[in-house]
Amino acid sequence: MQKILVVDFGSQYTQLIARRLRELKIFSEVCPWDEISDLTEVSGFILSGGPESSNLEGNPDINKRILNSKKPILGICYGMQILAFQEGGKIENKGKKEFGHAQIKLENKSHLFDETSNAINVWMSHGDKVKVLPEGYEVIASSDNSPIAAFQNCSKNYYGLQFHPEVTHTKFGTKIIENFLQKCDIKQNWDATDILKQIDTEVVSKVKDQNVLLALSGGVDSTVLAAVLYKILGKRLTCVMVDHGLLRKDEAKNVIRNLKKKIGLEVNLVNAQSLFLKKLEGIADPENKRKIIGKTFIEVFEKESKNLAEINWLAQGTIYPDVIESAGNSKTKAKVIKSHHNVGGLPERMNLNLLEPFRMLFKDEVRNIGKEIGLPNEIIERHPFPGPGLGIRVIGEVNEKRLQRLRDADHIFLTELKNYDLYYSASQAYAFYMPIKSVGVVGDNRIYADVIGLRSVNTTDFMTAKATNLPHEFIEHVSTRIVNEIDGISRVVYDITSKPPATIEWE
Ligand code: XMP
Repeated sequence: MQKILVVDFGSQYTQLIARRLRELKIFSEVCPWDEISDLTEVSGFILSGGPESSNLEGNPDINKRILNSKKPILGICYGMQILAFQEGGKIENKGKKEFGHAQIKLENKSHLFDETSNAINVWMSHGDKVKVLPEGYEVIASSDNSPIAAFQNCSKNYYGLQFHPEVTHTKFGTKIIENFLQKCDIKQNWDATDILKQIDTEVVSKVKDQNVLLALSGGVDSTVLAAVLYKILGKRLTCVMVDHGLLRKDEAKNVIRNLKKKIGLEVNLVNAQSLFLKKLEGIADPENKRKIIGKTFIEVFEKESKNLAEINWLAQGTIYPDVIESAGNSKTKAKVIKSHHNVGGLPERMNLNLLEPFRMLFKDEVRNIGKEIGLPNEIIERHPFPGPGLGIRVIGEVNEKRLQRLRDADHIFLTELKNYDLYYSASQAYAFYMPIKSVGVVGDNRIYADVIGLRSVNTTDFMTAKATNLPHEFIEHVSTRIVNEIDGISRVVYDITSKPPATIEWE
């Protein structure tokens, strides 16, 4: 199949280039700059940015076979500089570095900027810049800080951009990439079915005739992965779902029923509710609770899998934002705000190979795959739910009474959001339990009982978020239902804090 090869020079945005290509229905592969092999089906190259400087000897460079292939090339940032350098131009690494927003002005006419505008807001992230163009090249855009912000060589179909068209902050970024693709001999017809085929090929070639184990959390990623793997592996896939008692009302039952009904997959449900509750007894600190839940999860899962037939692989629904997050953390040593609970640590402990077929996909792409294989909207479009579940939504100490009230309150809130057609316009909504007493009056009696909080946020990346502007009458209606229907609750509050400074979860 014809493809665009994304040559990776180590930019943090390389996968975003691949994502933009998938959005444009183009089949692409990302390949490290020093592992270039067969080029027969390559219709064009996109050279990523990278942290290196192109003047230095021994730096990552463009494989000669790429330059000899006579196929179109788009160089981005470092990709542009190294292209200019290898073609005989000069690079400067003095002067002002440019990070963040900038504006470029178009200079000579170029197909790359067709249907854009004369001045474009772009995203820059570079120290070096092209100082002298190679022969046969012309400037097609400039910025205050980069007189050569974009160049072209029309006879070779080589283009260079100092800015990042793959980043959403760059206006017309996708259009610029699409304009480049028109110079490559490739059809825009790659879709979710093709992504599924690619996953199929990868899984079959890795797993061969061995067995795979999957820890099902009930969230979108692991549920869609279970369905995809079951179609490929059938009985060689074993799904284990640990019910730690911190799930939403009827959650385990619904996920298991849906997978059985829609695709015929049987899930092994492990009931470990009392064990988790016992371990959480008397623990109020959020980080302690997270650690206990994570550790107990691993213990239970490991014990259960000892009874299974020989397993060689552990499948995880890791998606690309998780990969970026961990890479970012290891480089920048970001401060731990919350230790996220996942099944990390399991593969090494259990001596299993790790299978992560979604590691290059984004959430919406996983959702599209889910749709493609026929999972219901109820699963695909559901809001994210944290691994430690209601354990971090009961503020302070967790006990069964509090969990039960919280499950009921959360169920009322989510059901009413759906009834009022508000669920899908919020990114994440949930109820939380505040064990502080407040006075109320029910009938003629005084009550002195706990508080339920409601939180609903809108966000695209979950890194920043704003409280959903829910209609007042709606919140009032939910509040009335909660106080009337759940014993032990005297009051309901709605959290309107943004992230930052608050986080989405309370703990
Ligand atoms: P915060 O509270 O950090 O949440 O603003 C951002 C997103 O992450 C989810 N979250 C978690 N997910 N394990 C998870 O799998 C966790 O420990 C965890 N903590 C928070 C949260 O629900 C929101 O979607």
